[in-house]
Amino acid sequence: MDDLKAKYLTQTADAADESALEAIRVAAVGKKGEISLKMRELGKMTPEQRQVAGPALNALKDEINSALAAKKAALADAALDERLRSEWLDVTLPGRPRRGGTLHPVSQVTEEVTAIFAELGFSVAEGPRIETDWHNFDALNIPGHHPARAEMDTFYMHRAEGDDRPPHVLRTHTSPVQIRTMEKAGAPLRIICPGGVYRADYDQTHTPMFHQVEGLAIDKDISMANLKWVLEEFFAAFFEIDGIKTRFRASHFPFTEPSAEVDIQCSWVDGQLKIGEGDGWMEVLGSGMVHPKVLEAGGIDPYEYQGFAFGIGIDRLAMLKYGIPDLRAFFDSDLRWLRHYGFAALDVPTLHGGLSR
Ligand code: PHE
Repeated sequence: MDDLKAKYLTQTADAADESALEAIRVAAVGKKGEISLKMRELGKMTPEQRQVAGPALNALKDEINSALAAKKAALADAALDERLRSEWLDVTLPGRPRRGGTLHPVSQVTEEVTAIFAELGFSVAEGPRIETDWHNFDALNIPGHHPARAEMDTFYMHRAEGDDRPPHVLRTHTSPVQIRTMEKAGAPLRIICPGGVYRADYDQTHTPMFHQVEGLAIDKDISMANLKWVLEEFFAAFFEIDGIKTRFRASHFPFTEPSAEVDIQCSWVDGQLKIGEGDGWMEVLGSGMVHPKVLEAGGIDPYEYQGFAFGIGIDRLAMLKYGIPDLRAFFDSDLRWLRHYGFAALDVPTLHGGLSR
């Protein structure tokens, strides 16, 4: 028995890998292993002999099994040490900028617009994209059969059969946030509300989901002159071009009176879009003095307060400022496009640091 023990413990100590250990296990304590065969001979022994040999064989079997397990653990440790030695990584090396993601132009322009209006004393308000029919239309003085509902190509949500409450809508503009903020905060107010909006429309300058930023200023003595000044300040700061040409056109919205639309001068040559030149115009915003009925719907007394509101197309601004000719590409998630038109994630736009670099 001493010979068996010496043989198997030496073999175990010398084993180079797991498969060698397994071969030793089979030869020693496997079903037909040497020690197992010896155990079978116990039956032929006298009871006295068996009393000595039985426990000794069992002890030997245990000893070999635990030697095998210890060697297996030692081999695994050694393998791990070897991997740690060969596969090390220097975490203090600089990152690879080419692999970095970029900010989408819509995010960039939203940041730029927010920075400019923050400087003018506007804070940011938000509202839901799935909106009640009342907030999106009625409260904005667009009653049930008003043609503006059809013009906006609204996406209606589904209602269960037999439920005849008006359906929710995907908001067609950010104007319902005017109502929600008036309800919550009352007057005076000075806010912008950036976010996604939806209309069933699709061509070079329209996508079914796009972005607007709403502006709203309410106080006791706000006039159309304040509106025009704020917008001109905004365009000068945003486009970073002296004397950029804008065109204020008299217009109509149910929720403002009087109303004006604003276009920016641009040219399209060989599929290239350029601002500040040519004889084309791109409409970028709608605006006006808040209709008294809208103030009332928001819980504000129109005899005491008045204000202006505007809604700017963020994607349109991005197209103009960064010369991006097709709006549809904004939402294709094409990595080459994103690398080309994207912005460095850590360049936060500020007025003093420069909006875009
Ligand atoms: N909500 C209008 C639109 O989406 C824009 C607008 C906002 C006009 C505020 C006037 C005042 O077209």
